[in-house]
Amino acid sequence: MMKESEFKWWQKEVVYQIYPRSFMDSDGDGVGDLAGIEQKLDYLQQLGVGAIWISPIYPSPMADFGYDVSDYTGIHPLFGNMEKFDQLLKEVHEKGMKMILDLVPNHTSNEHPWFQESRKSRTNPKRDWYIWKDPAADGGPPNNWLSEFGGDGWELDEQTGQYYYHAYLKEQPDLNWRNPEVHEAVFKAMRFWLDKGVDGFRVDVMWHMIKDDQFRDNPPNPDYSPETMSPYRKLIPAYSTDQPEVHEVVRKMRQVTDEYTDRVLIGEIYLPVEKLIMYYGEGNKGAQLPFNFQLIGLPWDAAKIFAAVNDYEGALPEGAWPNWVMGNHDKSRLATRVGKSQARVAAMLLLSLRGTPTMYYGEEIGMEDVPIPPEQVQDPHEKNVPGKNLGRDPQRTPMQWDDSSNAGFTTGDPWLPVGNYGQCNVAGEWQKEDSLLSLYRKLLKLRNTEPALHIGDYFPYKCQDNLLSYFRSDGEKTFLILLNLGSSEVTLQLENIRENGICRLGTVRSSEGEEISGEVSLAPDEGKMLQYNNAYKELTGKDVGAR
Ligand code: GLC
Ligand code: MG
Repeated sequence: MMKESEFKWWQKEVVYQIYPRSFMDSDGDGVGDLAGIEQKLDYLQQLGVGAIWISPIYPSPMADFGYDVSDYTGIHPLFGNMEKFDQLLKEVHEKGMKMILDLVPNHTSNEHPWFQESRKSRTNPKRDWYIWKDPAADGGPPNNWLSEFGGDGWELDEQTGQYYYHAYLKEQPDLNWRNPEVHEAVFKAMRFWLDKGVDGFRVDVMWHMIKDDQFRDNPPNPDYSPETMSPYRKLIPAYSTDQPEVHEVVRKMRQVTDEYTDRVLIGEIYLPVEKLIMYYGEGNKGAQLPFNFQLIGLPWDAAKIFAAVNDYEGALPEGAWPNWVMGNHDKSRLATRVGKSQARVAAMLLLSLRGTPTMYYGEEIGMEDVPIPPEQVQDPHEKNVPGKNLGRDPQRTPMQWDDSSNAGFTTGDPWLPVGNYGQCNVAGEWQKEDSLLSLYRKLLKLRNTEPALHIGDYFPYKCQDNLLSYFRSDGEKTFLILLNLGSSEVTLQLENIRENGICRLGTVRSSEGEEISGEVSLAPDEGKMLQYNNAYKELTGKDVGAR
């Protein structure tokens, strides 16, 4: 085994995503801000997360709530100013934590000065910074590419008679990553933040960054069903996403972060595992953490999750570090997806798998999707494609801090409605030993203190009925993690483990300290973490480090 000190912080620490508009509002305008985050740093530190990733805080017309950037090196006045940012970064570091920023290089806002220039004329020096094409023979769009947010991916700009491509809103024109000037401009912005000491970037829609150079039509998707799926999925984005040339761009971005010590490059990539792992790059010179969203996408079924974990572990290139994401601002909330009782099991899964975990604000208290009345809808996706449950407002509602009005999030009118904060809030759960929040704190503490859990090997044990189990070991201590994803009791034979295990942590507190041998039973929705002291060789037949 490698020594603990040989691992990087981004391998050992847990990442916590903050959606800044909804985390904490310090000035009563109903929108969260940097000073609000600052107020809650103690909370995050005590929770036990080691890094925060903050969704975009840059100047933006907010057509896509910050993912339409109009200045890559500024701070939106809604969130604060550069002074406040510098102070926040300093405080994060003083607390021994890391800060990751969102980088949105695939597209800018249509109000970005680069685009304002680019659209002026066909001969403008910045024309080729974006993707401009002549209309097709019939005057329509150049090809059949669609926007992720509904409708055509092309917008006609009357003034110059050409179309520009936008993978998302028409207010989010795609940059042309085949143009080296674009590389330099975005890399300069990256260095601006890296110079300040920012610890890395989560790169937005990394797999979208380069498109087919011949702009071929995307093929139809034979599995498309209009009732349930976004119209974007009518076509398979074979030519508009995940092009071979993207890996060169990622490698260059990584070179930029590698000019600095100990920074991390994370990629947002929604692709099947065999394609996802390509983003580690040749010789692991690409993204250090290509986000692995399988726990969000898979049905909550032990056999499917067990197989997915094992396949992913098996597919990882030599030296590539795994990661797991349980929720984000684009997906239905965990407690809504898997249910309240399974949220505890899910927490144990996320925080005991091998690889960097990313959790989403509010997950730790079991926040659920909040139904949004039509007149309060904010998300452009819901506005463009209404009524298909595609809107993302329900998972972006204000953090529920306490049971005072507006959950203690704001003294003003919150930008989105607040959820069920009477029952579900930080202050209340912090007190209760049996709360989900207390379980998260214990899980984080155990993960942070036990090398077996933050850097140890993974090896699968058994999957039976709706229970899955696996080991984590650093060669000294071995943990057996048992998770019952179902609603009936399961008894598992431990015939090949001679040593007695001690329950270090359970979703049910009373199981802690139990000594277990021969077999183990798990109640519905129960999870347990058993500790063994000499089991590594016995179980694997291998000496420590022989992996
Ligand atoms: C990413 C973001 C999402 C945004 C989109 C366009 O998927 O996570 O919120 O709408 O990119 O930037
Ligand atoms: Mg505010």
